[in-house]
Parts: sequence; C-alpha cells; structure tokens
Amino acid sequence: MQLASSCEILHRLFLITELRISPFKLRVIIEKDYEAMSRRAAGIIAKEIRRKPNAVLGLATGSTPLGVYKELIRMHEAENLDFSDVRTFNLDEYYRLRPDHPESYHSFMFKNLFEKINVKPENVSIPDGMAADIGLFCESYEKRIKNVGGIDIQLLGVGRDGHIGFNEPGSSLGSRTRLKTLTEETIRDNARFFDNEGEVPHFAVTMGVGTILDAKKLLMLASGSNKSKAVRDAIEGPVSAQVTASVLQLHPNVFVILDEEAASTLSRSAYYVYVEKMAEKFEAEAGT
Ligand code: GLP
Repeated sequence: MQLASSCEILHRLFLITELRISPFKLRVIIEKDYEAMSRRAAGIIAKEIRRKPNAVLGLATGSTPLGVYKELIRMHEAENLDFSDVRTFNLDEYYRLRPDHPESYHSFMFKNLFEKINVKPENVSIPDGMAADIGLFCESYEKRIKNVGGIDIQLLGVGRDGHIGFNEPGSSLGSRTRLKTLTEETIRDNARFFDNEGEVPHFAVTMGVGTILDAKKLLMLASGSNKSKAVRDAIEGPVSAQVTASVLQLHPNVFVILDEEAASTLSRSAYYVYVEKMAEKFEAEAGT
C-alpha cells in the first residue's frame, strides 16, 4: 500500500473538517450564467427526489427559479424524474388575490411547473391568500408542514433588499407563516408582472424566517448584477433582520448558487471557487 504524503493527509483533513464534521456548511457555487445556475440547482433537487421519492420540496416563485423548473420538466420528460410521491409547499402568496388571477403564485406554479410534471394536485400546498381567517390558515400551514416531517429542500430566490419569501427587512428571524406588508421597493419590483403598479397587492402570506430555517436543506439562487448587493449582504454581511437572507449563515446545510454577475461584488469569491473545487473532489472520492 502506498503511504499518503503528509501533504495529502493535511489536504484530506481539511476536506473532512470543511465538509463532514463542521456543522456549519454554507456552499457558495458560482456558475457562468443563468442557464448553468439553473441546471446546477435542478440537479440538486433531482438528486433529492431520487434519494427520497416522497421528498418534501419547498418552492419559490419569481423569475429566478423559472430556469430550474424548466430543467426539472426536461428531466421529468427525458430522464423519468418522478414526482408522483413528491409533496410541495410554496413559500408565499399574495393576500386577497384570487388563485385563478394570472399573477397569483397559484397560477404561476401550475403554469410553470405543476401542469408539466406528474405531481399530484393533492400533494401541492400553496398559502391561501383568500382564507377568511388568515391567522388560523397560517397556523394550519405550519402544522401541515410539520405533519409531513418538515421540508427536505427549500428553494429560495432573493429580493433586491435581501428578503427571502416575503420576509421584508425587519422581519423577526424567528417568524413563522403570517401576513406581511410589502415594501414599496418590492411592490415596484413585482409591478412588471402586473398591468400597472396599482394592481400589485400590498400584503402577502409568507412562510416566516423561522419556518424557512427549519427546512433540512436550503438552496438559494441569484442571477444578475441587480442582485449582487443583496447576495453580498446575505453571505458576507452580519446576520440581521434587515437582510433576512443573511440567516442562511445560521443554517447547517445551505447551497447558494449564483451566476457570475450576482457574485460580482463578493469579496471572497476566489476562495469560494477553491472550496467548491475541493468539495467536488471530495464528493467524487467519497461517492456521495
Ligand atoms: C418576490 C418573491 C421572492 C422572490 C423575489 C425575487 O418577492 N416573494 O420569493 O425571491 O420576489 O424575485 P425575482 O426572482 O423575480 O427577482
């Protein structure tokens, strides 16, 4: 048997500490562009579904995850990715926007994913912005997530002010599903999907920051230079209720997948690229 060099032993120790023993695992993956980012994220979700066919997916809306959904649909059609036992929970929904409104998150999810895969409608959960008693509904949403054993993997986009779900700056880091008032910036940003800004709802029902933190794995995506500040604040800034995405730093199992533009203002991107190369090598050796 060949003796491992001391350099190799040190290298392996580094990897084990970085990936296995340390409970704090935040992987920052920088891909060339939006398509590569989307493929990488879809690959992680598909791996989870193949490992656990009745996986519980936390899903997100917005333009960022569209490429992931496209790739998951392709994998369903071309590679038999089976969603028949998968359960899904969406992050959020506008308050008092009918589910059949073209810009409701219900419509978004059915149009861009659910209608094109074999997920069972009864396994799909999206917050009900029309519920007569929103407080009661929010409690039942939390219970439903708990009853299926929690979310295995939660997909997240990020708002320009660093919000996840609709947890606007100032949201309690322990918050649970509830009604939130949207900021003017978020209303303006989301106006592009509506006929005019006046039509954008001012409130939304959203999983809380605490609800999101309970997921077993988090997968946050960001694309484009208009997200680079939010990304830097979230990953390299202090953990703060002013940037709710910064709580990712407290979670033990996080993938942040960025395109080069979204990563452009990170101060340690060369290190993240190096760690990722090492992580991939380690995983290939360990066969994980
Ligand atoms: C909304 C959604 C978020 C999403 C954000 C960014 O606020 N509630 O879940 O991450 O928009 O959207 P986009 O991906 O379109 O930039």
